[in-house]
Amino acid sequence: MTFSIEVRRAPDPSRLADEVREGLTRTPVEIPPKWFYDDKGSQLFDDITELPEYYPTRTEQAILDAHASELPQVGTLVELGAGYSRKTKALLESVRPSLFVPLDVAEEPIHDAAVRITRDFPEIEVRGVVADFEDELAPLPGTDGDRMVAFLGSTIGNLTPEPRREFLRRVFRATAPGDLFLLGADLVKDVDRLVRAYDDSAGVTAAFNKNVLHVLSRELDTDLDPDAFDHVAVWNAEDERIEMRLRARRDLTVRLLGLEWRIAAGEEILTETSAKFRVDGIRAELADAGFSVVTTWTDPAEDFSLTLARRL
Ligand code: AVJ
Repeated sequence: MTFSIEVRRAPDPSRLADEVREGLTRTPVEIPPKWFYDDKGSQLFDDITELPEYYPTRTEQAILDAHASELPQVGTLVELGAGYSRKTKALLESVRPSLFVPLDVAEEPIHDAAVRITRDFPEIEVRGVVADFEDELAPLPGTDGDRMVAFLGSTIGNLTPEPRREFLRRVFRATAPGDLFLLGADLVKDVDRLVRAYDDSAGVTAAFNKNVLHVLSRELDTDLDPDAFDHVAVWNAEDERIEMRLRARRDLTVRLLGLEWRIAAGEEILTETSAKFRVDGIRAELADAGFSVVTTWTDPAEDFSLTLARRL
């Protein structure tokens, strides 16, 4: 079977400029995490998933390996924020869709996944979509009532509560009654383990974080120096989320988007929030958005959760 890739919305520099301009008005200044994922950043995240400190990927994989066979079979599997779709094999083997739709902001990982999956599963058609899950998701390929939408890896943690509510409603609008939603969510746990997962000893997460500054300096007209910043990972206990920040090593004056941006030594840019969940909370958010929760699986240590819900 061949594959195709539909580019709905490439992550173009004008959108980056708009989002950076918006982020500059906030305190602290924010750069949305989707901009990590150029080819280099996609590769660095792939490396993160193999780090000893980064438990989410292998824990979710173990839950999938243990329970994928309990999932119903459907005609179409859509994976949001699919990246390289490395965890999807167990899903494809159990769900046996005739159509697989990996959707991601980054094209290179989708292309890589499409080649691999069409080789490993010749009977499955792969229709990749390059899109931002912060845009409207409809129309999703497939037959109404015969789809499963998977959002794995706790990527939902990148959204703060209000954008998360809006995202779940977008999934609702893009699906039909009877469609399934499979959601991976990382759980609140020991703070040291959480922080180490985002500040590994090999420095891969630090390189991933700083890569967003390389993206800015390449795509926008700026004299921003990525080496003038340090990687910081902190636990925000009130909001129950890990925050990745970039801290200025010295006073800086940066020319960016026609502005002069003054940054004091020690000032931080917020580059990612990664919310950690409680099982009851995630189930309640799904119910609020119009989904009926079927079941939640966790690993024995309750580090990570996978919730299956049916769209009402
Ligand atoms: C891809 C958003 C799930 O939040 O854990 C990994 C990204 N950032 N290390 C996460 C990430 C730093 C990751 N997600």
